[in-house]
Amino acid sequence: MQLVQLMYVSKTKKTLSDDELVDLQQVAQRNNERDNITGVLLTTTDYFMQCVEGDAYHINQLYKKIIEDERHHNVTLVDYHLIARRYFSDWALAVVAPSESDKLIDSTLNHQIYNPFEMNSIDCLTLLLAIKTKNKDQSLRVIL
Ligand SMILES: Cc1cc2nc3c(=O)[nH]c(=O)nc-3n(C[C@H](O)[C@H](O)[C@H](O)COP(=O)(O)O)c2cc1C
Repeated sequence: MQLVQLMYVSKTKKTLSDDELVDLQQVAQRNNERDNITGVLLTTTDYFMQCVEGDAYHINQLYKKIIEDERHHNVTLVDYHLIARRYFSDWALAVVAPSESDKLIDSTLNHQIYNPFEMNSIDCLTLLLAIKTKNKDQSLRVIL
């Protein structure tokens, strides 16, 4: 099995409400558990940033569905590579809602204006990994 990690950014068509995010998360979690996919989704009013990891076949299938999803556009691949181990192994899909993402972005990006389309893959991954750290010390809530 080839374990891969895929990261992309996209623009929201409209800001999703907390209820809509929970709906998205529930479907994603069910599918991701079935396909042994793990990952995290950072949402803001304007953007999505997501990292998913799993076997290459299932990740490629999922990315096809995600690209076609009407809830966003400009889906742009940031990184795709083989990994030896998962970074988000505890989460089928943890979702950070816009209400929580502001403080994460503020503290991680040092108050720069957030535009994921201008970030490189290392900075994107650093931001997503901060979700794990901050969730562990209970300073950030994720939808599970
Ligand atoms: C930003 C975003 C992230 C998504 N992430 C996932 C995901 O990790 N897993 C998943 O199965 N679906 C995800 N989806 C939903 C898919 O695009 C699609 O609607 C869903 O997989 C369809 O599920 P179904 O085939 O069970 O109906 C995401 C959608 C959006 C807009």
